[in-house]
Amino acid sequence: MHESYGNYYATHQLAAHYDADYACRPDIPFYLALAQELQAQVVADIGAGTGLLCSRLVEQGHQAIGVEPQETMLALAKSQPYASDVTWIQGTAVDLEDACANLILMTGHVAQYFLDQSAWVDVLLQARRALRPGGHVAFEIRNAAVEEWREWADEAPRDVGWGTVRGEVLQDGDLITHVDRWNVGDRNWATSETLRFPSWDDVIDGIKDAGLHVALVWGGWDREGVGPASREWIFVLTATS
Ligand SMILES: C[S@@+](CC[C@H](N)C(=O)[O-])C[C@H]1O[C@@H](n2cnc3c(N)ncnc32)[C@H](O)[C@@H]1O
Repeated sequence: MHESYGNYYATHQLAAHYDADYACRPDIPFYLALAQELQAQVVADIGAGTGLLCSRLVEQGHQAIGVEPQETMLALAKSQPYASDVTWIQGTAVDLEDACANLILMTGHVAQYFLDQSAWVDVLLQARRALRPGGHVAFEIRNAAVEEWREWADEAPRDVGWGTVRGEVLQDGDLITHVDRWNVGDRNWATSETLRFPSWDDVIDGIKDAGLHVALVWGGWDREGVGPASREWIFVLTATS
């Protein structure tokens, strides 16, 4: 049986495996430490996914707001520990209230879901609107020059423990679409997702255009400096006064 293409995050089977598939993530302890250092009372997480980070933020003593468009992910988020203490919003950054958070996060490369410069500036403008005075915005973007997407293409189906997947990657300028063909028993289906790999200049121009500026930037989860081979650019922004 072959099912049609779907959004990865709206696909129940994939959403249900998400946290286990991405276990041992270095970004979760990184953002938890950042929230603690910034003494952020309220943290908003745009594209909160399965809600793992919001759950850990509440455990650490912060108030958390999780914004997520996909009902499938949000349902999982609501079953995480401490989920009843998180404010959940089904939606996107536009659904955040004005001046609601001291720290606004986009983790798990959510910043790459904004597929052109106008969408990039828009989400940063929404984040700025939702920031409390003196607040911070933090997120990471994969360094386009490293071309990490090449690792997403499989020559043959790859075992993921509960089935197999074969990835195909298509490039169109700074947009990368990965089509993944899944097989579990007699079930076959495909998911497709497009991400933007913006240039450094596009990232920085968007930040300036949204009235934000770079307070800190790192090239990896151990807070190393940014270099040509950095896989990630990790930004902490503040509002320009
Ligand atoms: C790779 S997952 C990351 C989830 C979570 N932040 C994490 O770190 O595990 C990307 C998430 O972004 C959400 N998403 C996609 N487009 C979005 C948008 N325009 N606004 C907010 N979230 C979005 C997806 O539904 C998905 O849950």
